Amino acid sequence: MIKIAVLGYGTVGSGVVEVINTNYESIAKKARQEIQIKYVLDLRDFPGDPIQEKIVHDFQVILKDEEIRIVVEVMGGVEPAYTFVKSALEHGKSVVTSNKELVAKHGSELIALAKEKNLNFLFEASVGGGIPIIRPLNQSLTADEICEIVGILNGTTNYILTKMRVDGLDFDEVLKEAQALGYAERNPAADIEGYDACRKIAILSSLAFGSQVDYEDIYTEGITKITAKDIKFADRLGYSIKLFGSSKKVDGKIYIMVAPMMITEENPLYSVNGVYNGIFVKGNVLGNVMFYGSGAGKLPTASAVVSDVVDEVKHIGTNILTTWSSKKLELADIQDSKKRFFVRIEGSPKKRIAEIERVFGTVQTVEIEEIAGEFGFVTRVLSEAEFAEKAGQIDGILNRIRIDQQ
Ligand code: HSE
Repeated sequence: MIKIAVLGYGTVGSGVVEVINTNYESIAKKARQEIQIKYVLDLRDFPGDPIQEKIVHDFQVILKDEEIRIVVEVMGGVEPAYTFVKSALEHGKSVVTSNKELVAKHGSELIALAKEKNLNFLFEASVGGGIPIIRPLNQSLTADEICEIVGILNGTTNYILTKMRVDGLDFDEVLKEAQALGYAERNPAADIEGYDACRKIAILSSLAFGSQVDYEDIYTEGITKITAKDIKFADRLGYSIKLFGSSKKVDGKIYIMVAPMMITEENPLYSVNGVYNGIFVKGNVLGNVMFYGSGAGKLPTASAVVSDVVDEVKHIGTNILTTWSSKKLELADIQDSKKRFFVRIEGSPKKRIAEIERVFGTVQTVEIEEIAGEFGFVTRVLSEAEFAEKAGQIDGILNRIRIDQQ
């Protein structure tokens, strides 16, 4: 029997307990031994809940207990998670985490420490909730050089954009629903400003390219500026709007960004709706592969956490090699990245087309009867720098959204 400790009895922590209790026997068969939770660390007490008998408030109890072989960190945030995880590894305990902030910031260091100590540091649940994507990148797609990863990596924003489109609801109303369903981060800015997706694409890119991608270096734009009108114009043009985390190798340069994108039905991520996540990966010999599933929520995330625990139980005494060096990956300047742009602008095409085409060249215009006093147009392919320079010459621009080209 393997004894483990869970740090944090929040949404994911209570999910981990539930998954282990629900599938105790089948998990034991796959791990080839029983997995028992000995401690749950939390600041709070849970009177009346059977978990109370395992609750401890002092991490030292866990650290000093030699029976504990695996520590599951599901607290979130960088501190004190980082200090606890590092100490656990230093004390000979393998670690599983769902914490993308921790992995994005200290992943390479903790992977190296686990290797040095012949332990494991696994983090499947940090990206894509219940979708297996870390293990496939690390263990399955090893024959390939990855040329592209494009993902809908945040369930909350995908839920919001889907509800706004399908039910015509307002942003704030849908955000509250997502929070009530347990999808959202404690701080909603992490979801809606794209910070969560940014950390996730940083993790995936670091694994795909084998070197450190600092999330601070990634151009990140959230969905707070997307309005019901943008969604209507997108719909009229045959596009859906998705928050993409994308990492692409073009002519040997790696471009990474997080931003809302308009995509057509031909894009395999078009039908990834609601809280679901989808991750599209292109390998130089494999071609295209896509991962799809529940990207957030208690049990899907806990399922990924427990699968890592099983993997660690099966690999006690053996380090599962993860290629993610601390050497910083050089990123291309996003100003050179090229796309078509949708622009929503004041006025009517009749009055403004000459001025717009003088600056942008030929554009495709779109009008919607019930939206008076404004219209939309789609540019030819432009670099970010070219677009910004041209947009600066035109008054009355209300919004602009990039169009992803597959
Ligand atoms: N807030 C995150 C999301 C949770 O909505 O995807 C999973 O990381």
